[in-house]
Amino acid sequence: MTPAATARAHTNIALVKYWGKADTTQMLPQTSSLSLTLDQFYTDTTVQFDSALTADEVTLNDDRLSPQASGKVQRFLDLVRPDGQFARVQSTNHVPTAAGLASSASAFAALAGAASRAAGLDLTRTELSRLARHGSGSATRSIFGGFAEWTAGTDDQSSVAHPIDETVDWPIAVVALVLNAHQKKVSSRQGMQSSVDTSPFYPAWKDVVAHDLAAIRPAIATHDFQQMGEILESNAMRMHALTLSANPPFTYFNGDSLVAMQAVQDLRDAGTACYYTLDAGPNVKLFCQTKDLPKITQTMADLFGSEHVIVAHPGPGIQFLSSP
Ligand code: DP6
Repeated sequence: MTPAATARAHTNIALVKYWGKADTTQMLPQTSSLSLTLDQFYTDTTVQFDSALTADEVTLNDDRLSPQASGKVQRFLDLVRPDGQFARVQSTNHVPTAAGLASSASAFAALAGAASRAAGLDLTRTELSRLARHGSGSATRSIFGGFAEWTAGTDDQSSVAHPIDETVDWPIAVVALVLNAHQKKVSSRQGMQSSVDTSPFYPAWKDVVAHDLAAIRPAIATHDFQQMGEILESNAMRMHALTLSANPPFTYFNGDSLVAMQAVQDLRDAGTACYYTLDAGPNVKLFCQTKDLPKITQTMADLFGSEHVIVAHPGPGIQFLSSP
């Protein structure tokens, strides 16, 4: 039995989205992407390899997963298993699972950290980012705190994230509106593949991302909130245009998503700078400045109930809570 290792990773929200793979085996994306790691949503994962086990035992939030449900985790562990040993994996998700709050990002980043340490590997953060990518693309970025950029790269070696600004000395916040915490119908994996294969606008998306990345980097560097907000909002809407233009078309929005987007527009019209983004689910995430939090959280609580409004701030990169 190897000593157990425990890692904590936080989720991240993309400002310039990853939406499509160039290589599904190596998990190489079509484009680079850029995100902010958040403090409120994280996963703690403990891994221990044991030669006495005859299969991996995976527990998520105290529920033992069936071999089918843990398939992705088993394939991920194959990348690091010492002497082919199976593992005991215990994971606690402090994120509404599969609700578009990117739980796979924190899950596979934490798993990369815990599994590699339990296997006796002492990987650099770049190596952890590369390993995490094989579990889930967005996990590539969750190894780092604050703003991080995942460079698409051209092969396994070059497709990794790097930090842009880990400390984020800038009073910004993200307000997450949990409008539906249930499992999503079209997974991000299926949704992005369908967009790549069938949206006639997909080629234009690659140009959009290149343009948005070039513009958002200086906006972050100079703390130009309005410029950053305008880019992240239009990037999200253009990503969602790829789902609406796929064949068959689909959308992650629900009625409340549209209500929230309109409310943000109204806040802006009344002089409060605030911008929205959505991932592969109906939940809306608002980027704002901390000085405007009281007004924004009150507005959203009036619409959706205060229990559906969660305030997050920039969060840290991967942490090892216990390690051999
Ligand atoms: C909309 O990382 O969940 O959140 O690589 O197939 O596991 P897989 O997909 P995943 O996709 C995230 C998509 C997104 C945008 C983003 O986080 O960049």
